[in-house]
Amino acid sequence: MASPYIAILNGPNLNLLGRRQPEIYGTCTLDGIIERLRAAFPGVNFTHACHQGEGALIEAIHEAGFDSDCRGIVLNAGAYTHTSLAIADAIAAVPAPVVEVHLSNIFAREEIRHRSLIAAVCAGSISGFGPRSYELAVRALL
Ligand code: DQA
Repeated sequence: MASPYIAILNGPNLNLLGRRQPEIYGTCTLDGIIERLRAAFPGVNFTHACHQGEGALIEAIHEAGFDSDCRGIVLNAGAYTHTSLAIADAIAAVPAPVVEVHLSNIFAREEIRHRSLIAAVCAGSISGFGPRSYELAVRALL
């Protein structure tokens, strides 16, 4: 993409939003979240992707993160948040700021979700506001 943009990157199982554990993640689909962003920020360009695999997500972080047109990355790494040193290394490697987002409040859930391996290398973290987590993350990058 030639003009400045914000990349919205999602990890495994987030393609299932809308039908995945709606009592935790709500009923808004991933496409719905992107539509909400476009409506809330009409002057902002977005790219978006959802990757099931760690390697593909890392490649997407590299691509956007080293692109001088990319103003920042909003990243919901899904369960990789809690397990992936490789994703943390990718975030640390790129110059673009990365904001960690979660729909659910990870600190109010099972203990294993309380730890984020990526938080320390992100510009900041937003957790627990459903689709609004993404909007707050975009606002933080503007
Ligand atoms: C999530 C929280 C993670 O713990 C979980 O593995 C997800 C979604 C969230 O958006 O609340 O897949 O990142």
